[in-house]
Amino acid sequence: MEAVLNITGGPVSGTIRAHGAKNSVLPILAATLLGKGVSIISNCPDLTDVHATLKILCHLGCKAEYDGGIVTVDSSSVTRSDIPESLMREMRSSVIFLGAILARTGQAEMSHPGGCELGTRPIDLHLSALQSLGAETFEVSGIIKCKAKRLYGNEIILSFPSVGATENIMLAACAADGVTIIKNAAREPEIEDLQSFLTAMGAKIDGAGTSTIRVSGSKEKLRGAAHRILPDRIETATYLCAAAMAGGKIRIEDVVPEHNAAVLSALSEAGCSITAESGAIELARYKPLRPMHPIRTMPYPGFPTDAQSPVMAVCTRAEGTTVFTENIFESRFRHVGELARMGADIRVEGRVAIVSGVGKLSGTRVKCTDLRGGAALMVAAMGAEGVTSITDLRHIDRGYERPEEVLTQLGVKAERIEI
Ligand code: UD1
Repeated sequence: MEAVLNITGGPVSGTIRAHGAKNSVLPILAATLLGKGVSIISNCPDLTDVHATLKILCHLGCKAEYDGGIVTVDSSSVTRSDIPESLMREMRSSVIFLGAILARTGQAEMSHPGGCELGTRPIDLHLSALQSLGAETFEVSGIIKCKAKRLYGNEIILSFPSVGATENIMLAACAADGVTIIKNAAREPEIEDLQSFLTAMGAKIDGAGTSTIRVSGSKEKLRGAAHRILPDRIETATYLCAAAMAGGKIRIEDVVPEHNAAVLSALSEAGCSITAESGAIELARYKPLRPMHPIRTMPYPGFPTDAQSPVMAVCTRAEGTTVFTENIFESRFRHVGELARMGADIRVEGRVAIVSGVGKLSGTRVKCTDLRGGAALMVAAMGAEGVTSITDLRHIDRGYERPEEVLTQLGVKAERIEI
């Protein structure tokens, strides 16, 4: 059944709570494979990507279930080493299972994640890192196979601080003989969250959050552990953008404000008053929106690529021009065409988008082109006249838990209609 999200723009007022981070829960669920026993992961968002991850764990022989934000995984018995193509298609980021399956079973097999809405999505850094740890990797007809009787610690210098490659190396290195040092590692908060969980499982690992991570591997299997997923900084950024666009006041609780520093600074340039303290962010906007200084997406702690599209949506109504440069993914402006249908004035030249603010956006029927592109449409709808009907919600449902309920909590008229 298809669904449409109808949003009527208008000011917000209210308090919401951030859900757990999608980008943290996926590698942490993959990490449960490294332990023999039961892991209990709380604050898990109710997202299609999370349910796809549970299907993968069940396929591999684990018992995995979701109940009210808590995932319980029993990985005592792992009987398979492959991820079938149908599950890979559901979630391309399942490449994160490569390191974990290899560490647990000595072999792993999955189809190549291929291209996606964001452009070609190579995994060369993942594969060459696993080779440095002693794995043999082959690719035949789009199927990647990895094998290693034993993995050995090594120094790995990443040519780019890839989040997924850093996570894959951390997972595989836990089972390697000796010490692995990852240089130019990604520094995202989700990497620190993975380190916390691995430490709780008994791994010896430090440095996450800096560009050098050190893992002392062990032949011993780790044990199951309990962990609470950190708050989703991108979901938080999206609802802050929604409030900035709509005007009014929002309070988001259960967040780590410093994880959103780059986005908060951009939104305050746009004329929002922001206070951030003790796990909550408050944002109010009553004056007209101003343009922002040029925004260039960068690895953390730079401006996050995942927040580029919702922040761009805010700029479509600013009194002036804002320039965006997308440095992380080659094709991440697919939302621009849909924003233009609402009346936005955006010119794209390669990796640069020039956004000239307009006096009004008009609600119309628009479709999600990708997850964060969908977020941009929700934000744009908040500042548009009339009703915006957003289709292709499967993209949004990968990363936002019941957005219609969150927006309703903020006093916005938002409803999902099954058609
Ligand atoms: C993760 C996030 C995603 C976020 C991205 C960047 C998850 C599930 N997804 O994706 O939401 O947008 O980080 O913050 O956590 N690259 C290569 N070769 C590789 C790996 C990556 O060239 O082997 C390139 C990618 O094509 C891309 C860039 O490196 O251009 C960044 O990718 P990466 O940091 O790996 O992103 P993901 O882990 O896929």
